[in-house]
Amino acid sequence: MKNIVILISGGGSNMAAIVKAAQQQDWAHRYGARVAAVVSNKADAKGLVFAREHGIATEVLDHKKFDSREAFDAKLAQVIDQHNPAVVVLAGFMRILTPGFVQHFEGRLVNIHPSLLPAFTGLHTHQRAIDAGCKFAGCTVHGVTAKLDVGPILDQAVVPVLPEDTADTLAARVLTQEHVIYPRAVAALLQKA
Ligand code: GAR
Repeated sequence: MKNIVILISGGGSNMAAIVKAAQQQDWAHRYGARVAAVVSNKADAKGLVFAREHGIATEVLDHKKFDSREAFDAKLAQVIDQHNPAVVVLAGFMRILTPGFVQHFEGRLVNIHPSLLPAFTGLHTHQRAIDAGCKFAGCTVHGVTAKLDVGPILDQAVVPVLPEDTADTLAARVLTQEHVIYPRAVAALLQKA
């Protein structure tokens, strides 16, 4: 089995979209793949409830209990490695990762970012797109390298920015597209894995 490990920090709607796609498209037979575990750095991440309800193993690793970023990432890598992952999916995992962690999983580590990269790396992407007067916004799935929000672009989707948009309405429009492209990009990786 090709195991998928998904890392979340909050709502986990992208994780849920991947879990649903895996079920609906029968990734077990199609790619010999399954979502093996969902890992969160926050015990109250809402996505953990969905994962448990779908029979997926969950792990919580609280970054506040570690003295350094390196110590947290080393333990995180250990927890992930226990599931022998073919693909590690960052789905709203709001932590900057150390080079050591990225190197350990490089080639099987992917992220989704709520902008049309290389525009708007970092936070507050939707407000920044509105402030810049962008007519279009979107989301990007990319391979993860040591630099934040940079790495080979695997998939993208575009949405219009409407005159009355707030950061919240734009974020909601982008999120619906994240749920389309992230399962699609992960499936494409599994096909090659
Ligand atoms: C998503 O919009 C994702 O693109 C973004 O956080 C949200 C998580 O939503 N990720 C980042 O900003 C990464 N820097 P979700 O928990 O419902 O999937």
